[in-house]
Order: sequence, then C-alpha cells, then structure tokens
Amino acid sequence: MAISTSVQKKPDPCSFVIFGVTGDLTHRLVIPALYNLAASNLLPDKFCLVGVARKGTTSEKLRADLMQGLRKFATRAVDEAIAKRLLDCVTAIEADPREPESFDTMRDQLDKLEAARGTGGNRLFYLATPPGAFLPISRELGRTGMLKENGMWRRLVVEKPFGTDLASARALNGALLQLMDEHQIYRIDHYLGKETVQNILVLRFANGMFEPIWNRNHIDHIQITVDEKLGVGHRGSFYDSTGALRDMVPNHLFQLLSLVTMEPPVKFDAHSVRSEKAEVLSAIQRQSEADALNNSVRGQYLAGKIGDTDLEDYRKTEDVKPGSTTETYAALKLTIDNWRWAGVPFYLRTGKALCAKRTEIAIKFKQAPFAMFRDTPVDRLSQNFMIISTEPTEGIELQFNTKVPGPTINIDGVEMKFRYKDYFKAEPSTGYETLIYDCMIGDNILFQRADGVEAGWQAVQPFLDAWKKAGADGLENYKAGSEGPAKAEELLARDGRSWRKLG
Ligand code: BG6
Repeated sequence: MAISTSVQKKPDPCSFVIFGVTGDLTHRLVIPALYNLAASNLLPDKFCLVGVARKGTTSEKLRADLMQGLRKFATRAVDEAIAKRLLDCVTAIEADPREPESFDTMRDQLDKLEAARGTGGNRLFYLATPPGAFLPISRELGRTGMLKENGMWRRLVVEKPFGTDLASARALNGALLQLMDEHQIYRIDHYLGKETVQNILVLRFANGMFEPIWNRNHIDHIQITVDEKLGVGHRGSFYDSTGALRDMVPNHLFQLLSLVTMEPPVKFDAHSVRSEKAEVLSAIQRQSEADALNNSVRGQYLAGKIGDTDLEDYRKTEDVKPGSTTETYAALKLTIDNWRWAGVPFYLRTGKALCAKRTEIAIKFKQAPFAMFRDTPVDRLSQNFMIISTEPTEGIELQFNTKVPGPTINIDGVEMKFRYKDYFKAEPSTGYETLIYDCMIGDNILFQRADGVEAGWQAVQPFLDAWKKAGADGLENYKAGSEGPAKAEELLARDGRSWRKLG
C-alpha cells in the first residue's frame, strides 16, 4: 500500500518468476492482476515473466494457456494489445526441486534472459504452489544463490496456508529465514488486498472522532463474520485435512481482528504497522483446552438448499472421508489481554454453505443509560453498531437511534451508510493488484511478518488441540443454507448477546 502522492511510481525492472504457473491461482488471480497492472501502466518498463513449467512446455504453449486463462478470469474487458505486450514477456523454464540440477540450469537461463532483456538481476519468485513445495523450492533457490541480494533485490512470495499449526509455522519460518532475510519474504493474505480492509487503518487513524471511543469504556463487544454460501466444491481433499478454523481464522479473520484492535503505529511503515499487529495478536488470551471447548462451536453442514442450488452432505463431497469430523463452520469467543480491550469479548465466526455471503466487522457500542426515557413510550433503545463490511458490498455503516417524527417521543434505529462504489470509481480488480505491485516496489506493509503469523497460530492452537482430542464429540450439524449451528447462537446468548442475522 504505497503511500502515494497522486502518481504511482513504476517498479524497478525485474523478473517475475511463477512456480505453479499452470495452476488455478495463477490463472484466476495472478495473471489477471498482472494484466490490470499492465493496463494501468504499473508494470516495470523492462519485465520478464517467467513460468516454471513441466518438461516439454514451450513458451508459445504457455502464452496460449495463460491467454486462455486471462480471457476467462479477467476482471475487465481484455485489450488485445495490452494482453499481447504482457504475454510477450513470458518465457517457460523447467525446474523441479526433485531434480536439483534443474535449478542450476534455471539460474543460468535466467541470467541470460535478463541480460538479453536488460532487466538487471531483480527477481521476484512467486510460489503459487501447494504448500508442500514451498520449502523444497526455496531451498533450491537458496542453494543456487538465487536468493542472494548483491546490489539487486531478490524476493519470495509465499501463499497461504503458512503452516498447519504453531509448530509447523515456526519450522517453516525458521527454515526460510536460514535461506534469506525477513525483508525478502512476502507472506500473502489476500484479505489485505481488499480496499475496505486497508481502509480500517485510515478509518481509525485518519479521523479524530473514532479513536477516543475505540476501547473497553465504550465498546461492548466486536463480532467478526466471514461466512460463505459456497460449499467445499472440488477442494475436498485440501479442505478435509484443513477445516474452517485453519483455513480462515489465523489468517483472514485475524487480519481483520488485528487491524481493528491494534494500537496506533508511530509511523505508516511496514515495521511499525506489523509490530503493532503482531503485538495485539500475541495479547489474545491463551485458553486452556477446557476453556477452548467452552468458548467455541464447530459444525459440519448437512444437505440443504442454498438459493436454488441443492448441496449434498459435506461428508458426501468428492475426496472427503465418509466419517470426516472436519469442521466446515467455526465460532470462537476470544479476549485480548491488554489495557484497551480488557473485558471486551470478540466473537468470530466463519463457515461454508450458509445462507449468505457476508464478511464484516460489527462493533457494538455500549448502551446509553435508559434513565431519561423511563416515563416515555420508549421501551428500549436499539443497539449502536458500526459495521465495516467487504461482502456483500464494501463500505461502512453506522446504526444509531433517532426520534420517529410525531408528537410523542418514539425512538427507532436507523442506518447511515457509506458505500465505496457510491463515492469512488474503481475498475473491477482481483484484489491482488496492490499486493503484487507492493512486492515489486518492496513495500511489505500488507504482508505478514514471521512473528505475526506465529502469534496467530499460537492463539488458535488450544482450539486445534481441544477439537482434535474431542473428535466427533461436540461437532454440531447445520443445514446447508441456514445461519449455522444453533449452538453458535448459544455462545453469545449466554453472555446476553446475539449475532447479527445473516439472512
Ligand atoms: C481462501 C480460503 O483463503 O479464502 C477459501 O481457502 C475461502 O476456503 C476464501 O473460500 C474466501 O475468500 P473471500 O475473499 O471470498 O472471502
């Protein structure tokens, strides 16, 4: 998120090397995002786009394949001239970590290519691969000297999932940090590419009116919801060994949580912002396994209808074990043990196959004293919420009480809504443009640092452990197309609170 004046600078000449170039992520997001950057004239003037492909893939074949993907997934009408200019930069190179010598060859090929194109030696290696390949590829890049920065920059982009628990995330961080420095590693979380998510910092710290009330004195609780309508689809094999908690909470939901709860950073730079985010995540109170069970709900969907679509039981999904106890829904209650947030509960929920796609942070402010209205027709004051949402629309909403016109005093809740699309004209994007651009200009403010990732896993580890031990015990069912398991309502009801309705 370059702090831009009105003109964004072009990145340095560089090579953008994609591992996993024929995969879904490359087609769906990386190439369309590069195309959008090209269309906005934000790619380097000298640029090599290298696809690390299987044996026998020619550059021509790869270009045709990427063009086909671009036509399918582009977020804007494809301008043939821009697409051609971008794809003309593509070169296919073979490399496979199971054949280490292929990386020596790759290094020599890259050197030659860069000399011919005049891009210098700046390289960005993008690991759009399954997580099992992150380390083997990085080791080969390290062994062949391709991660050494001698007057040029070398960066590595790592997709999620970054580890599967605290121990594996620590081990991956440790291994990567033996091969390169922290400033070279860009751990991507696509939530940080969303405008509204980036806007949380601006909303909080560029306005004088919110920060004074952003604490336990004024906030009753915060709910974070990332609910989806889609089921698991064709990702059964990945999802069944992952589950809703690992898939969504330590990464996406904690990005939202940390931005909304962090202390003001002293500067708008990567070090200050990431330090504050990691600090607040490390203040999430560590729960015993018994508390973790008590403060969580996990569910799995059963067959149901979502809109007009019938969905079968999760357990009948392709590549899902018939007796699977993997959760497709998770709700947690957390607390943050610091001065600002002591005593404020944070309720997080995420799930698949629900009645609505909704991503929001709902901040509920404390109730005003009722005293003044005791002898009036008003029987209750509705809740003051601030809702920061990315789905179904990007924006911010404030709910407050107002007098209903008329001779008697009657009060009703109303909404004041800001919608991004009403104020700003933005070309439809993938959400990856800012992230990819930032990698190329060396701004890692929107990327996770090792300590932030580990603090996230540390907070969810008690839930992972407790759920693993409990097995099928406590796994609730919910109907596809519903609001989720009934037990999730109880999690808040016992505190005298309730979730905002999804439907
Ligand atoms: C991905 C998860 O990281 O995020 C998916 O692996 C999930 O399971 C997706 O569907 C949600 O992203 P978004 O941007 O649609 O909320």
